[in-house]
Amino acid sequence: MSTFVMRRPDDWHVHLRDGAMLAGVVNFTARQFARAIVMPNLNPPVTTVADAEAYRSRILAALEPGLSFKPLMTCYLTDGIDAAEIERGFAAGVFTACKLYPAHATTNSSHGVTDIKNIHGALDTMQRIGMPLLLHGEVTDKHVDIFDREAVFIDRILSKLVRDFPALKIVLEHITTEEAANFVAEGPATLAATITPHHLDYNRNAMFDGGIRPHFYCLPVAKREHHRLALRKAATSGSAKFFLGTDSAPHAVGAKETACGCAGVFCAPHALEAYAKVFDEEGAMDRFEAFASENGPRFYGLPLNEERITLTRDAQSVPDRISAGGTEIVPFHAGATLAWRLQPSNAAR
Ligand code: DOR
Ligand code: ZN
Repeated sequence: MSTFVMRRPDDWHVHLRDGAMLAGVVNFTARQFARAIVMPNLNPPVTTVADAEAYRSRILAALEPGLSFKPLMTCYLTDGIDAAEIERGFAAGVFTACKLYPAHATTNSSHGVTDIKNIHGALDTMQRIGMPLLLHGEVTDKHVDIFDREAVFIDRILSKLVRDFPALKIVLEHITTEEAANFVAEGPATLAATITPHHLDYNRNAMFDGGIRPHFYCLPVAKREHHRLALRKAATSGSAKFFLGTDSAPHAVGAKETACGCAGVFCAPHALEAYAKVFDEEGAMDRFEAFASENGPRFYGLPLNEERITLTRDAQSVPDRISAGGTEIVPFHAGATLAWRLQPSNAAR
């Protein structure tokens, strides 16, 4: 097969940043996706309707003319979050979902939630109005090994959330473990998960291949090979509970290649090609459209995109570095050759 036509996909988890970095990265996402769930972990975080409206305006202002792209905004949950503000933002079509970062779990999460009990009021409201909860599913307990923090989060937090809020829509974001894939697959229809292209592509060895390789470091951190294989199985299974979420998280090269480097993989520029590589390798191109373009909007209760995109089997090299926001960023698959290429249909028209 040399061409593959599919419904235009969406990215259900992306970091677009702000300021010059936003302007440098947003068009990579907008060229690939019709919509994206935009993470609110700015500094300071997006916690009010006014914050989200202003951020959405900055995103739209940074788009290249002619690109059609709809940012779907999220509210950052804090211990003191106002449930009425969440409801108002959802009713107004400004907030699509709320994001829960356990405090200090990852980049810009210091304002995150210190105890899930502190947001029970917000969760009650979200359950009542049908607003999805997006989870960074890792415990922050330093006594828990970093490679176990997702599985322990499922045991200690998520299992109780699913029990106590049976009608709450929950997305376990960027899953990295067999435990997560199984828990979601076996859970109720209100529970789903996103999977990144990088967690499908490499295991934890990639971070230590001949030396420390900071561009493979993200959170949750990549796990053992059997976990990667479980993720590939889940993504290509045809189950409606798994869908595309890149977790593209750009950091300047100097913030990655340093003594204490930031977590995040910048996968936006060739995201679809990176997912196509995985589905192709698994002999599952017939399930790619559901994962990329159908399962996400169905879970969120949003319309499916009507436009189509075309991928061609036409090898391309990924650059070693991409200039964005006055800095250089090393993209996912830097220096590699990818077999598939997205045709530029969402270009200036
Ligand atoms: O690797 C990550 N980078 N994981 C996150 O949870 C946050 C993200 C970021 O914002 O850089
Ligand atoms: Zn993220």
